[in-house]
Amino acid sequence: MSDFVRLDSVTKVYQGGITGALNDVSLSVDEGEFAVIMGPSGSGKSTLLNLVAGLDRPTSGRVAVRGVDIDKLGEAALARFRRDSIGLVFQFFYLLPNLTALENVLLPAQLKGNNAAARARELFERLGIGEVAERFPARLSGGQQQRVAIARALINEPALLLADEPTGALDTHSGEQVMELFSQLHRSGQTIIFVTHDPRLAKRYATRMLTVTDGEIVDDIHSTPSRLQEVS
Ligand SMILES: Nc1ncnc2c1ncn2[C@@H]1O[C@H](COP(=O)(O)OP(=O)(O)OP(=O)(O)O)[C@@H](O)[C@H]1O
Ligand SMILES: [Mg+2]
Repeated sequence: MSDFVRLDSVTKVYQGGITGALNDVSLSVDEGEFAVIMGPSGSGKSTLLNLVAGLDRPTSGRVAVRGVDIDKLGEAALARFRRDSIGLVFQFFYLLPNLTALENVLLPAQLKGNNAAARARELFERLGIGEVAERFPARLSGGQQQRVAIARALINEPALLLADEPTGALDTHSGEQVMELFSQLHRSGQTIIFVTHDPRLAKRYATRMLTVTDGEIVDDIHSTPSRLQEVS
């Protein structure tokens, strides 16, 4: 049971859905992987990610993260699991407009005590946004907002970083900066599952390329990301 993330025969049928959004999917992701999920619109990519995040529950099957069956957790335990183990980044950054960048990042850390502020500052520096900590989101570029959202995802040092098209709303340059951050995080050991429409991003960064079609994994390729060859 060394699988970091494991899905066994997972099916998800949404209420009112005629066919499953995911159909009998089994998958295992190891620690340290940068797994990219590709596939057409509506194929089930976000559904898969949300099940791993504990944001949603499977209709049937088992979802386990680091050996814990999260589909069997009660609501409170599931919320704790999300807070402590999962970092989530979305296409639209979902920063709270009335809080500064720094306050947004500290929000998930509120119950975690005193070192959070220092750690948040450190993350801002590391992500190259040290100068925007006191600004409100409306005064940040899209790329800066996404980097704040990444800092927020990382503040509790999650075992798993999950991203759903995090470059989808960014211009090419900001998108590349954000991808470089994910790549750095991966090189420092972070396990990442990443949804994208862009096969070029997958080739450049992924150690694993999964293709989802009609709620099934139809292709699963282990690869050496070209970005790593450039770095070493
Ligand atoms: N909350 C929901 N309620 C009902 N049906 C849903 C819900 N979320 C997704 N679906 C349906 O489940 C299927 C898979 O959706 P999903 O969002 O996982 O696709 P996706 O691969 O992420 O697509 P996209 O690339 O457009 O983001 C689609 O048919 C979608 O309409
Ligand atoms: Mg989606």
